[in-house]
Amino acid sequence: MILFSADSISLRYPGRPGPLFRDLSLTLRRGESLRLTGPSGAGKTSLMRVIAGLQRPSAGRGLILPRRVGMAFAEPRLLPHLSVLENLLFIAPKARHQADAMLAALEMQALQGARAASLSKGQAQRVALIRALLIRPEILLLDEALGGLDRPAWTRARDLICQQRAQDGFALVEISHDPARLIVPEAPAICLT
Ligand SMILES: Nc1ncnc2c1ncn2[C@@H]1O[C@H](COP(=O)(O)OP(=O)(O)O)[C@@H](O)[C@H]1O
Ligand SMILES: [Mg+2]
Repeated sequence: MILFSADSISLRYPGRPGPLFRDLSLTLRRGESLRLTGPSGAGKTSLMRVIAGLQRPSAGRGLILPRRVGMAFAEPRLLPHLSVLENLLFIAPKARHQADAMLAALEMQALQGARAASLSKGQAQRVALIRALLIRPEILLLDEALGGLDRPAWTRARDLICQQRAQDGFALVEISHDPARLIVPEAPAICLT
């Protein structure tokens, strides 16, 4: 099943000399994985935003967009005055049981009543990951989303993602500046320059 498809797309921002990418064709199906690589400023996040339907390409054909996209960024963007659990149930009100299970899997259960504003970056990134998973995405986009986690916490997050993928078969697109921190290191890469 095709979740995202685009034919010969380009992306150009007003006021910038050249396009970030041009004539890019990409199809993502259920269960597939993709890495986006390239230096800072190359357009990795912009391409992710195109895949999510948040950014329209400037040119191209045949755009097919996914219906449900889970996204997590380096910046967790939680609702600061709500608790951890409230942040999760705000997005997925019927998912209490799964929220509890995922918090436990990431050793965050004791913090479920803590205000989001009081969390460390790594703790907040774990909540943002769970929030993205709870919507049962067709595509999960991870944009340097787990950089604040120490290695044991990162490994638990990877295991949770892999376990959910085994159940739901979502496609995964990831950006990580650390090659040792890829959920699917053998995934094909799109290299932006
Ligand atoms: N909404 C926007 N409007 C104009 N320029 C943008 C916008 N978003 C990103 N850019 C610019 O496009 C370039 C690529 O940004 P980005 O996609 O964030 O790259 P990366 O994720 O690879 O670091 C940068 O130079 C950035 O400043
Ligand atoms: Mg980026």
